[in-house]
Amino acid sequence: RWALSQGLNRAVLSGMSRRGDPLAEMMWSREEPDYARLRERGPIHVNPFMAGTVSYTVANEILRSSDFGVGDGQGELPIALRWLLGKVSAPDALGPVDPPSLLAVDPPLHTRYRKQVSKAFTARRIGSMAEMVTAVAGDLLDDRDPRRGPVDIIEGYAARLPIAVIAELLGVPESDRADVLRWGDQAAAILDPGLSWRDYSQVESGMRSLHEWFEGHVRHLRSAPGDDLLSDLVIAGDLDDRELHALGLLLLAAGFETTVNLIGNAVAALDAHPSQRALFLDDPSLADGVVEETLRWAPPVLATVRQAYVATRVAGADVARGTAVAVLLGGANRDPSVFTDPDAYDITRPNADQHLSFSAGAHFCLGASLARLEARVGLRLLYERYPTLRVSGPGLRRPTRILRGYASLPVTV
Ligand code: HEM
Repeated sequence: RWALSQGLNRAVLSGMSRRGDPLAEMMWSREEPDYARLRERGPIHVNPFMAGTVSYTVANEILRSSDFGVGDGQGELPIALRWLLGKVSAPDALGPVDPPSLLAVDPPLHTRYRKQVSKAFTARRIGSMAEMVTAVAGDLLDDRDPRRGPVDIIEGYAARLPIAVIAELLGVPESDRADVLRWGDQAAAILDPGLSWRDYSQVESGMRSLHEWFEGHVRHLRSAPGDDLLSDLVIAGDLDDRELHALGLLLLAAGFETTVNLIGNAVAALDAHPSQRALFLDDPSLADGVVEETLRWAPPVLATVRQAYVATRVAGADVARGTAVAVLLGGANRDPSVFTDPDAYDITRPNADQHLSFSAGAHFCLGASLARLEARVGLRLLYERYPTLRVSGPGLRRPTRILRGYASLPVTV
């Protein structure tokens, strides 16, 4: 079912993008998005296949409105095709973007799941991780000293911090972390629209391995629970196996695949803006500013999608029931009516934290404060230890479209 709908998406998106539709081009391309072109079309652009917005107000409204929801991901597909896709769907299909994952269910079911996980994902638990993040970051910086020669800041640092943190949260043993990261990387393109058969097989193989590993892991935690968040959820017993599985996989994927981009994107942005870098080096308490402005300017998750549950009007345009609306978070973050001189990277921007990079409404990122903590501590320690750190060669972008960041970024001092 999924491969088939990906194939259809691919055909439609590439066709429309060849015909010059700016929304299809943006969803299809792996280049830096040109939000200004879409903004010229007004607050919402509706094409025969889907709709999209780069307007901050409209994005916020859609993300918070009960007229829109996470839907079945099949958006505008004709009803007969949806029926067909339903018929061939695998009954055990389960991914971080399939129900019962938090990301794929609407209130009131979503409210129930969110309440249960929030009981375990407490501010106290997050706060207690600060010490651990500092210790892990310090060890990593001792291990990979860029004074000895160029270091890949992604593999050596930006990826390792979030891995250590999420592994601690979910009780992943040290010996399994490298495998879990590799499978997570393979599966990361799951959010992209219109995957090729090759991408699709990779995603499937990564997901399958993650599922198998996760089943064994939960079995182990049931007989020998630790003091991690997942063990708390297992012991609480509020979620059945399928719900626990979906939540665990989502936490794993969300924790591994996003924060690495934030740290990498911040190093690249600071390097490309020497005056901002100098400000930060002068005053390390600007770390919060670096984190928020990087989230705004180079968001790790570029977009999300919502489906219209009713026929409605948005910013003067008709949106038919069933329309999939691409909420371009990165575009909303560059809306000049909210952010002055939006294309400038400015770590002292007073309202940078109003960005939509963690989304808004019911699905607002559950891990936002954890991600902020990791990036703040990670960047501060990195530049305190190596103030002359510079990017020393061209970085390699990750191949995914919706998740944006570097696969590798060499640095030296
Ligand atoms: C949801 C971004 C880190 C867990 C989301 C969404 C976004 C996002 C955009 C909402 C998607 C939507 O509305 O459709 C980010 C970014 C991160 C980050 C940019 C890092 C810089 C994390 C971390 C965790 C996490 C570290 C967990 C440890 C989640 C969960 C959801 C979520 C569980 C689903 C919430 C729900 O549907 O109620 N994240 N995330 N995220 N994120 Fe994050």
